[in-house]
Amino acid sequence: PDGPLLDSLGRPLRDLRISVTDRCNFRCSYCMPKEVFGKQYEFLPHADLLSFEEIARLARVFAAQGVQKLRLTGGEPLLRRHIERLVAMLAQIRTPEGRPLDLTLTTNGSLLTKKAQALKDAGLQRITVSLDGLDDAQFQRMNDVGFPVAEVLDGIAAAQAVGLGPIKVNMVVKRGTNEDQILPMARHFHGSGITLRFIEYMDVGASNGWQMAEVLPSRDVLALLQSEFRLQPLQASAPGETAQRWAYADGGGEIGLISSVSQAFCGDCNRARLSTEGRLFMCLFAHQGADLRGLLRDNSGVKQDDAALTQALRGLWSQRSDRYSQLRASGQNPAPAQRRVEMHYIGG
Ligand code: GTP
Ligand code: 5AD
Ligand code: SF4
Ligand code: SF4
Repeated sequence: PDGPLLDSLGRPLRDLRISVTDRCNFRCSYCMPKEVFGKQYEFLPHADLLSFEEIARLARVFAAQGVQKLRLTGGEPLLRRHIERLVAMLAQIRTPEGRPLDLTLTTNGSLLTKKAQALKDAGLQRITVSLDGLDDAQFQRMNDVGFPVAEVLDGIAAAQAVGLGPIKVNMVVKRGTNEDQILPMARHFHGSGITLRFIEYMDVGASNGWQMAEVLPSRDVLALLQSEFRLQPLQASAPGETAQRWAYADGGGEIGLISSVSQAFCGDCNRARLSTEGRLFMCLFAHQGADLRGLLRDNSGVKQDDAALTQALRGLWSQRSDRYSQLRASGQNPAPAQRRVEMHYIGG
C-alpha cells in the first residue's frame, strides 16, 4: 500500500509517542493523584508490556508510513529497565528517504543524572524535562513524593553536559497552585539555552478532578512574561507543532506556550500514541485504543507480518477523525471524563 497516509480530516501521521511504562515515581496531583494511584493500585504486569523488539518493529512500520518523530514517554520512561537499549534500537530506524528519526524522550528528570550519558551514547538526540516550579516546598507538594527541585535541576545539567539537546522544560501551570513560579522559571532559564514551555492544565484522564477555574490561559502567562521581558513571536518550526514560540528580544533564547485548552491545535494534529501494552490511540482524549499487540503476538496461531501491520495502521489512521480539544472549545463534550484514558498510561 503506497501513497501518502492521511486521516479523514487530511492530517498526515508524523509523530509517534510511545509509552514504555505506566509507572511513575512521582504522584503529580494533575496526573496520578495519590488517592487514585495509591499502594493498592495495580499497574500492568510485565508480560502485558510491549517488549523492546515489539516496539522497534512497530516503530519501523510507522516510519515507513511517514512518522518522522519518536517520543518515549510513560509514566516515567526512565523507570523502564535498560531503556537505553530501546533507544539504541530506535536510533537505527530510517525514514523511506534514509534519514534518522527525530528521537526524544519526556522525563520528570529524577533519574537523569544517572541515565543521561547512557541515553546519549545510545543515540538519543534531545530530551524534554517536566518541571513545575523552583520553589522547593511547593514542588515537593506538587510531585507529592517530596522530590527536591535541586535534583531535577542536576538532571537537566547532566543532560546538557553530555550534549543532549536542544533541551526543553515543560511546566504545567495551575492557577492558584504554581502560577507564582512563572516569572522565576522564566528568569532561571532565560539565557540558558533551554526552552521553557508553559502548558495549560488539561482535562486529560478521569482522576485529576480538572476544573476550568484552575486553567491559567496562555494569554495571561504571556502578559505576565511581557511585564518583565520583551518577546517577539516566532514562526512555527514544523506543521502541527504544539507550542506557540516566542523569542526573547535580547537574544536570551525562546519560550513556548502550549494552549490546548484556550486555543486547540487539533487542526493539524499529526500525533499518534502507542500505550504501554500496545494499543494505538489517535487522540490524547480517546477512550479506546486499537490493539496492535494482538497483531504482533502469535496467540491465534496467525502471526501477522509487516504488511498486515501496515495495512492495519493505514486503515486506522485513514479513518481517524479525532479533534477533542476543538470540540471542547466549541462547547461540545465528545468524551465523558469517566471513560477517558489516563495520561500516565498513554504518555503526555
Ligand atoms: P517537541 O517536538 O519537543 O516540540 O515536543 P511536543 O511538544 O510534541 O511534546 P511534549 O511531550 O513536550 O508535549 C508537551 C505537552 O503538550 C504534552 O505534555 C501535553 O501536555 C501537550 N500535548 C502534546 N501533544 C498534544 C496533543 O496532541 N494534544 C493535546 N491536547 N496536548 C498535547
Ligand atoms: N495537563 C497538562 N499537562 C499535563 N501533563 C501531565 N498531566 C497533565 C495535565 N493534566 C504533562 C506533564 C509532562 C507531560 C508528559 O505532560 O507535566 O510535561
Ligand atoms: Fe509522573 Fe509525569 Fe505524571 Fe508527574 S506528570 S505523575 S512525573 S508521569
Ligand atoms: Fe490531537 Fe486530540 Fe490533542 Fe486535538 S485533542 S491536538 S486531536 S491529540
